[in-house]
Amino acid sequence: MALFQHHVFICINEREPGDTRGCCAARGGHEVAKAFKQKLYERGLKRVVRPNKAGCLDQCAAGVVCVVYPEAVWYGRVTVDDVDEIIEQHLIGGTPVERLRIPPEALTGIDPDAEPTGDGFDF
Ligand code: FES
Repeated sequence: MALFQHHVFICINEREPGDTRGCCAARGGHEVAKAFKQKLYERGLKRVVRPNKAGCLDQCAAGVVCVVYPEAVWYGRVTVDDVDEIIEQHLIGGTPVERLRIPPEALTGIDPDAEPTGDGFDF
């Protein structure tokens, strides 16, 4: 079993044309996912960083959306031209690409400062 240092989830969700939410597929999600896979392979990182195609990551307005784990760095408006920079600076160099980050206050989901409910569903 491979033990990856990072997972990169890339949204490729597709919606009907005319859906006001738009979708990452229409903004190039498939192409971004393909670029991650190809460029990671070329750098010999196939067993180190795992790019995974993902369904909607619930940050649609910022598509194409990618999230890097385990550090939970969210990127928005990612294009094929940004992939090299994310790989070199973040996945290899350890420094997130600030110009592409979705600010925490703009992310949908729970408030990270919210008090736990104790019901085991604090996510
Ligand atoms: S469609 Fe990509 S985040 Fe929702």
